[in-house]
Amino acid sequence: MAKDKFRQEVSNFLKNKNAKYAKIKYDMRRMNCAKEWYRYRNPLRMLWTAFVVEVCRKLPPSEFKNHLYRMIGMKIGKDVTICPDVVIDWLFPELITIEDGVLLGGDLFIAAHEITINELIIGRIILGKQSLVASWTVIDPGVTLGERSIVGLFSWVREDVPPYSFVVGVPAKVKKTLDRTVYSKSLEKTDIRSEVMLYKESEI
Ligand SMILES: CC(C)(COP(=O)(O)OP(=O)(O)OC[C@H]1O[C@@H](n2cnc3c(N)ncnc32)[C@H](O)[C@@H]1OP(=O)(O)O)[C@@H](O)C(=O)NCCC(=O)NCCS
Repeated sequence: MAKDKFRQEVSNFLKNKNAKYAKIKYDMRRMNCAKEWYRYRNPLRMLWTAFVVEVCRKLPPSEFKNHLYRMIGMKIGKDVTICPDVVIDWLFPELITIEDGVLLGGDLFIAAHEITINELIIGRIILGKQSLVASWTVIDPGVTLGERSIVGLFSWVREDVPPYSFVVGVPAKVKKTLDRTVYSKSLEKTDIRSEVMLYKESEI
């Protein structure tokens, strides 16, 4: 039987821990590349992964939930918070590393792969120590977020983010560099803004 080159290239990427990103050409046995995911992923494994990801989407952040994610191959450090409705890549969760102290807002998507008609793009994702990814954001394959970086709401992150940077937008660009001591400072005065109250009770 002829060797399945497409499958072999996916397998080579997964085995090579130093490989960060790959664009693998599909041999067009079917009309689009997504049709044949079972050539490089075991369907039973996919069922298990899908089950865990979907259950976790509905769970509040907890160490139990982080443990479930570890069971599908994700690497998750300590004090990581993953809000509900985060969608984790079903096909390649083992390519995602979340370092200590990371906070992931709700409704965001971490995509370790991307499929086009004739290509499979895969990449290792690293969310650096104490980085914050705000809600409704997409992280693309191959992206590394630097330590203590921040991704603003509704962003699409396509490139690596330098440490201590605030990025935002579609595609995300560096908006500002952050103070390196920001999380080391003692608690400052709480910012309570009375002006957000539009009416006083006596005026209603
Ligand atoms: C990341 C975040 C905390 C930044 O808030 P902040 O420090 O108050 O940011 P600032 O208000 O100083 O914004 C700095 C600049 O970025 C812009 N900016 C901030 N968020 C933005 C966004 N999502 N899209 C576009 N621009 C944005 C601001 O307009 C401002 O621009 P300017 O300097 O030209 O006026 C906030 O944007 C955010 O995403 N909050 C949600 C956090 C979250 O999802 N947590 C998850 C658990 S609930």
